[in-house]
Amino acid sequence: MHFDLAKLCSEHSVEGLRWSTDNHGLIRFVIESERCDAEMYLHGAHITKFAPKGHKSILWMSSQSIFHLDKPIRGGVPICFPWFGPHPVDSSLPSHGWARIQTWDLKSVTKTPAGVFSVEMTTTIKPFKLRYVVNFSETLEMLLYVSLLDTHPTATYFEEALHSYFAVSSIHDIQILGLENAQFIDKVDSARLKEPAKRELLFSGEIDRVYLDATSETQLVDPGLSRTIKITKRNSSNTVVWNPWIEKSRRMPDFGDDEWTKMVCIETANVLDHKILVSAGEEHLLAVQVEAFHH
Ligand code: BG6
Repeated sequence: MHFDLAKLCSEHSVEGLRWSTDNHGLIRFVIESERCDAEMYLHGAHITKFAPKGHKSILWMSSQSIFHLDKPIRGGVPICFPWFGPHPVDSSLPSHGWARIQTWDLKSVTKTPAGVFSVEMTTTIKPFKLRYVVNFSETLEMLLYVSLLDTHPTATYFEEALHSYFAVSSIHDIQILGLENAQFIDKVDSARLKEPAKRELLFSGEIDRVYLDATSETQLVDPGLSRTIKITKRNSSNTVVWNPWIEKSRRMPDFGDDEWTKMVCIETANVLDHKILVSAGEEHLLAVQVEAFHH
């Protein structure tokens, strides 16, 4: 596919937003504004940086991330779609689906008088049409709309996740609030269904959990950074929490061996039994808002 950087610059020029290619030739924009600094790629419609004013980027990026058209970026906010994890029947298909490894089209970039940047990207993954609207201000708002292509009238299921990687001071010191009352599928214990923990989530080993009926707000409390990140969402039944810990980090080629101490994924999702059925003429919205507070 041919990307015309000059065309993007001339047709989608907004003060405070700059288009460029990275060292690997992928196109991205950078926002430097009074309200936040941010970065987003056309590859995967992938947000790789979000730093609300007064904060460093609250999104974690791996120093070993591969930036290539065939590979997902490691860190930031990958979009998992139309399946989550390994493909259910064909293991040769890419983990977490196609959305994060294809180049999206830019529809629009606008800036309100109050300084909120709004970006819309679209793509097609047959039989689905995807529309992703991201609003950048002191908060990061991500809106993923899914509908069927007009040529495909049959209602179809999909799974989806906005797979946010958050930067933390130390995985040993953080806690996650908001999941106390949710059952979960424990992917590091033979996918067993487990009862609600009735307490905050702390980390002392690999965690890979799909929380069920987890619709409430989640807080990531980080005493080391004197910061809490608040994640609120709409139309999402699952929250996935992941930290690969030591051995799995070593097995991943695009993940530094020691980087697991500095990140945690809190993913806003509709997966497994909560997959979504979309019918002709409908549009499903998955919405997430992320805010950071100093203590
Ligand atoms: C998480 C899954 O969402 O993503 C984990 O629950 C998986 O099982 C992780 O290991 C990373 O997946 P990938 O495909 O980006 O390496």
